[in-house]
This record gives sequence, C-alpha cells and structure tokens, in this order.
Amino acid sequence: MPLVNMKPLLRHAMDNGYAVAAFNLVDYNTTKAMVKAAEELNAPVICQTSAKTIKYFSHKEIVSWVRTVAEDSPVPVVLHLDHCKDIPMIEACAKAGWTSIMIDASELPFEQNLAESLKVREIAEKYGVGMEAELGQIMGVEDDMVVDEADSVLTDPEDAARFCAALDLSAFACAVGTAHGYYKGEPVVDFDRIAAINSLTKTPMALHGGTGLSDETFAKAIERGAAKVNISTNLKHVWVQSFVDYHTAKPTDFEPLRVMDAQYQACKTMFSGFIEKFGGKGRGSEFLSTLG
Ligand code: 13P
Repeated sequence: MPLVNMKPLLRHAMDNGYAVAAFNLVDYNTTKAMVKAAEELNAPVICQTSAKTIKYFSHKEIVSWVRTVAEDSPVPVVLHLDHCKDIPMIEACAKAGWTSIMIDASELPFEQNLAESLKVREIAEKYGVGMEAELGQIMGVEDDMVVDEADSVLTDPEDAARFCAALDLSAFACAVGTAHGYYKGEPVVDFDRIAAINSLTKTPMALHGGTGLSDETFAKAIERGAAKVNISTNLKHVWVQSFVDYHTAKPTDFEPLRVMDAQYQACKTMFSGFIEKFGGKGRGSEFLSTLG
C-alpha cells in the first residue's frame, strides 16, 4: 500500500496503548527486512532515515526502496526523516515522498527552537506530511551530533506544553533520561516526567535512545504516552555482527547473496522482537480500519 502519514498512526498508537517501532534503515536489505517483519506481525512500522544515510545514497534511492517494499505490503509504513537541522534538506525529503519530517533545533534557546520548528510546520503543511520536533537535549551521539551528559537538558513539561501547542506535532521528541548509543551505566529514565509531559501536551511522544533499554522501561514509557520508539545503534551492531559471524562460520563462502541473507535474517529477527515488545502485533489492519 502507499506510504502513510505518521500523524494518525501515532495518535492511534497512543490512544490504544502501544508504540510504533522506528528503525534507522541502513540499506535496501534492512528496509525490506523491517517491512517484512512488520508484515509477518500485521504491525505498522516506521522506516526512518538519518541525514547522513540520505547524503550517502540520495533522496531518490531511499524513497524508491521504501516505496517498493511498502507498496507490495498490506501493512502501514511511514517514511520518516530522523534528526535534521538543515531546512532545505527537510523540504527536499517532504518533496521527494517522505511522509514525516523531523526538525531538531534542540540546541537553540526555546524561542529560536520554536521559530525554526515553525518553519518546518509550514513545510509539513505544504506537503501534507507528519512532523516531529525536539525540545530538551537528548544525551549521546546521533548522526554527527554529540551531546555530553553535562550538556543534556531534560525537557520541562510546561515548556513542552507551549512548544507542542504551537506546533501541532505528530511526534514530540523530548529528553527524559534516555540516550542515543549504548548506555554506559544503568539508564535513569524519568517516568514521572514522561507522564507530566504527556498529560500537558497530549502529543504522542517519540522515545529516542531505544537501544539498551529494558523491557520494563519500554512498557512503563509506553503506558505513559511514548507512541514511537527509535532504534538505531542496535541495528548497526546486528548488521555488522551478522556479517562477521557468517564469515567466521563459513570462511570459504564468498557468495554475496548468502552473506546478505544471513544479515537480512538477523536484522529481521531483531525488528520482530522490538515490534512485538512495543505492542505492535495485530495493529496494522486495526489502524487501517480506522481510516475509513
Ligand atoms: P539508539 O541509537 O540509542 O537506538 O537511538 C536511536 C534514536 O533515538 C534515533 O533518533
């Protein structure tokens, strides 16, 4: 089916107590694996792209992969742009066929962040796509952006309410104690803050830094309004490790298709695990039936 807009999908997720898994695709093979994993579970899925992945390939290539696998599939698939600071690039995504775009101006003071995000609001309206924006600073490394623990700022619920009211977001990215990349110690997630933000913003929350969180943390965050959970680092590791494992087990096999299939299967297993954990199973057709 055609790609879907992120807004009604995340609203459905929040209203029904589950979260949609969002994976940062690496290549065509991982794109196909995430959609197939969703299809086997009758679940929605968000294929998201880091800005550097788009720069490595191109808008045209990525949109063609995601459309190709989604069009052959009966489950709802969103193509979303993850953290982006470059407004022309954001507009290029919306124009090329992304169904959701993210502006990350979170390093700026509140008013400037809001002003930048409002520019992207106009782009989202012009192209009829979903939108995510960020307030507060999430720790860790994502794309080429690095936020040290000392510089990270948890999101203030009152500011969040003002930010979300002005932007009518499909997803609100905020800092609640999670971090991009592997956690060094035990993550300290502020569940009360998630609940407070959700009760004031009534906006589906995007939980960033999904790699390394416990099942209990996912469940508690989803219960309190996380409707999109981002996973990137875990995929990078499975992608590389599955290649290494295959070659270690079969050092004389140089058939690329078998190596790629080993990667595909390992990534698909990982995607299925997260989709089920976030409560996505069975939600694909359930969401589509609400569209009328
Ligand atoms: P991880 O790399 O920790 O999985 O976080 C992904 C993310 O939040 C992408 O925006």
